[in-house]
Amino acid sequence: MELECENCGHEWDYQGESEEYAICPECDYEMEIPAEAEVIAPQRDIEDILDKHPKEPSSLIPILQKTQEQYGYLPRDVIERISGYLDLPESKIYGVATFYAQFRFEPQGEHVVRICHGTACHVKGADGITDAVEDTLNIDSGETTDDGMFTLERVACLGCCSLAPVIMVDDTAHGNLTREKAKEVLEKYRGKNT
Ligand code: FES
Repeated sequence: MELECENCGHEWDYQGESEEYAICPECDYEMEIPAEAEVIAPQRDIEDILDKHPKEPSSLIPILQKTQEQYGYLPRDVIERISGYLDLPESKIYGVATFYAQFRFEPQGEHVVRICHGTACHVKGADGITDAVEDTLNIDSGETTDDGMFTLERVACLGCCSLAPVIMVDDTAHGNLTREKAKEVLEKYRGKNT
C-alpha cells in the first residue's frame, strides 16, 4: 500500500506485515498506518492510468476497468478527473458505469459474500438464506458493514447448483445451507478477523 511519511513526507510502497505501524525508509520515523492508506495517492495512480489511454470517448470503459482494478471501486474524485480528461460529463460516465454490473461506487469490504439467487438456489430457499445473512451482518444486499469487514451481493448462478442453496465468501463456496449454517459460516469469518 502507498504510504506518506508524517515526518518527512516521503512516499513509498509499504510491503511490511504490521497493519498498525510502519517505519519510514527515508527518516526511520515510526508512524501509525492510517485506515484509508490505500487511497493516499489516488491522484498519482489515476494519472498513470490516464497516461496509457488516448483522450477519446472509446477509452472510457478501459479506463473505468483499470480504475476499478486499481482502487477496487470507482471513487468519486477519480470519476471527476476522468471526466476532465476525456471531456465527458460525469453524468455520462455514471450512466455508462451503472449499466455494467462489474463497476461499483463504494469500497468493498474485506470479505465479499455472494448469495446465489439462481433457479436451483431460489427453489431451495435462497430468500431465507438471504434473510439470515442480512440479519447476521445487519446490512442489506449491496451494502458493506460499518466495520468494513463484509460486502453483501446478490448474484445469479454460482455454478455449483448441486450444492444449493449456496453462498460464496470470497473464493470459497458454502453449500447445502440452512439459515443456521449460513450464520455459522459468517461467524467463522468474523472470528478469523478478531
Ligand atoms: S443456482 Fe445457485 S449455484 Fe446454481
